[in-house]
Amino acid sequence: MYRIVFLGPPGAGKGTQAATLARALGVPHLSTGDLLRGAVAAATPLGREADGYMRAGRLVPDDLVLGILGERLDAPDARSGFILDGFPRNLAQAEILERRVVLDHVVSFEIPSAELVRRLSARRICPTCQAVYNLDSKPPRVPGRCDRDGSELLQRPDDRPEAVEVRLRVYAEQTAPLLDFYRRRGLLRPLDASGAPEAIAERLRRLIA
Ligand code: AP5
Repeated sequence: MYRIVFLGPPGAGKGTQAATLARALGVPHLSTGDLLRGAVAAATPLGREADGYMRAGRLVPDDLVLGILGERLDAPDARSGFILDGFPRNLAQAEILERRVVLDHVVSFEIPSAELVRRLSARRICPTCQAVYNLDSKPPRVPGRCDRDGSELLQRPDDRPEAVEVRLRVYAEQTAPLLDFYRRRGLLRPLDASGAPEAIAERLRRLIA
């Protein structure tokens, strides 16, 4: 089975690799960031509460995240596997997850922090279809416009330098301790996440084979 967690700092390429691998394995890509951004865009009560935390680069309170992820983990398409991208992010979340599911792999994305900042500052997203671009590594065909639907591309509010600094600090303080948590359980699979996306995808496939 492929019950996989992607662990790694902001901008490490988790979302990019999760989309490709989920398609290849035929399992859903469950991204708590995407679920929360969807709730913010739909202005649900949960989205309105999460918005301020996300803009500032801080973690959204555990009960809100679990509220949005719980249902998705129980959906029939997740029974034969999933790629969990962005969850867990602290010890409390990891312990809750451990009580609910047995994981097969926890892939740890490893990459120098200068590269993270470079990738995040160049990321642009389509507000209509959520496609992700990068001004350096994956530019749109027409500058500033989505290839799929022509919408004007935007910068994520939490990709501004002030929020990126907070996100990197939050990762080091709250999420990085999970590396030890999963190493002790024999689940940690370190992945060299630098280089071209195709080369990383190949290394990733070998890692979980
Ligand atoms: P989330 O959306 O999970 O953000 P993140 O973990 O900070 O990760 P990113 O989406 O920034 O980066 P990524 O690793 O997916 O990289 P990507 O593939 O996009 O969370 C956002 C917020 O939601 C959190 O700050 C928090 O507030 C809240 N939240 C979410 N989950 C939560 C939880 N469990 N608990 C509490 N709060 C939670 O790539 C980045 C860029 O680089 C793109 O432009 C891409 O095109 C480019 N790129 C990708 N790969 C390469 C490559 N190999 N070479 C060059 N460029 C590349």
